[in-house]
Amino acid sequence: MKVLIVGSGGREHAIALSVAKSPKVDQIYCAPGNAGIGGLAQCVPIGAMEFDKIVAFAKEKEIDLTIVGMDDPLVGGLVDELEKAGLRAFGPRKNAAILEGSKAFSKDLMKKYHIPTAEYENFDDAEAAEAYLENARFPVVLKADGLALGKGVLICENLEEAKEGVKSIMLDKKFGSAGSRMVIEEFMTGREVSVLSFVDGKTIKTMTSAQDHKRAMDGDMGLNTGGMGTFSPSPFYTKEIDEFCMKYIYQPTVDAMAAEGREFKGVIFFGLMLTEKGPKVLEYNARFGDPEAQVVLPRMKNDMIEVIEACIDGKLDEIDLQFEDNAAVCVVLASEGYPVAYEKGYLIQGLESFEGKDGYYCFHAGTKKTEEGIVTNGGRVLGITAKGRELKEARENAYRAVQWVTFENKYMRNDIGKAIEEV
Ligand code: AMP
Ligand code: GLY
Repeated sequence: MKVLIVGSGGREHAIALSVAKSPKVDQIYCAPGNAGIGGLAQCVPIGAMEFDKIVAFAKEKEIDLTIVGMDDPLVGGLVDELEKAGLRAFGPRKNAAILEGSKAFSKDLMKKYHIPTAEYENFDDAEAAEAYLENARFPVVLKADGLALGKGVLICENLEEAKEGVKSIMLDKKFGSAGSRMVIEEFMTGREVSVLSFVDGKTIKTMTSAQDHKRAMDGDMGLNTGGMGTFSPSPFYTKEIDEFCMKYIYQPTVDAMAAEGREFKGVIFFGLMLTEKGPKVLEYNARFGDPEAQVVLPRMKNDMIEVIEACIDGKLDEIDLQFEDNAAVCVVLASEGYPVAYEKGYLIQGLESFEGKDGYYCFHAGTKKTEEGIVTNGGRVLGITAKGRELKEARENAYRAVQWVTFENKYMRNDIGKAIEEV
């Protein structure tokens, strides 16, 4: 079969690698893809938001399955457009992708269906938000309602900072139209865990757990980024926690969406905080995480296409989802200055070191093929993943492999997975 993947990051590279392993697949295309994905798929210069062109391309090439990796096209309704044209697509429709597309929607859903999450209020005007803050307990968390590349969240220590935050989100529109509405919520403390899951509208099967490192610098300092590295599984995510979450968070979320007439088919990513009072939802995403996918998918034993088709056909209950009994760590190699300002266009050397090395992966994010070779083309450039028998070994392997590649302004965190040493 012919598969089209929509997106251009390390996540889409990891998806492409899983798809390529399926014996059912003859040809993979990726729109727009990147230099690394180009080694597995034919990249086509169509942007992820160019819906008409994507639909036309899928029709012309008689694509059997389109996998939408990114949040923007999902929230914008690409899956609906593909289905309208009679094409098969994997990912939630627009009315379900709102689970990620609107934080106010997701908070209201959790409240209505008693799914554990932080206390909150939604606001669509700045004055009311400021008035509410006068009596709030600090620190307090401000969130722009819409998509903001994982950066629309401000943790404010005091009233002054919080008022400044409301101004930047709602009045100065720092996160664009994402900030027309906002959520103000209780600050929670605890360990964060990412749990990705496959969903077919009624059945949900969770993948192995992972933990991201969102801040730019070691010791969780610096600005929030899209994610600087991950490890999987999370040793903090115990069997008891998993059972609790299935009963009170995962299945109730899927059932709530169905009850609202917003049947969810695709991937739900649960961002959880393991608080003293039990696991609570920090956020939902309607897609694989990035860089969570880079540690989760390489450990998946199943044929990715079989799982995806079961989701689309409402037969996920027939799938026995299995993961390897090992661990993986992904260290993101970024451009110095990310997530604010950084330079692009530097030659990347050493990529061939990964060829033929079992258990080591070099996922491309911001890279581009030029006549001189593959060059840096974004903030997050590569995701270097390594497996190991357990997390410690995976971590040593990943930090060995990051030395195989060099480029000017190469920047990484040195403490990805360090938390596991505390266990
Ligand atoms: P989100 O995009 O909602 O996942 O938020 C980004 C990051 O902000 C999370 O990964 C957390 O580290 C932090 N965060 C979000 N909401 C809260 C909260 N209620 N309490 C504490 N930290 C939070
Ligand atoms: N790594 C977090 C995300 O994909 O949103």
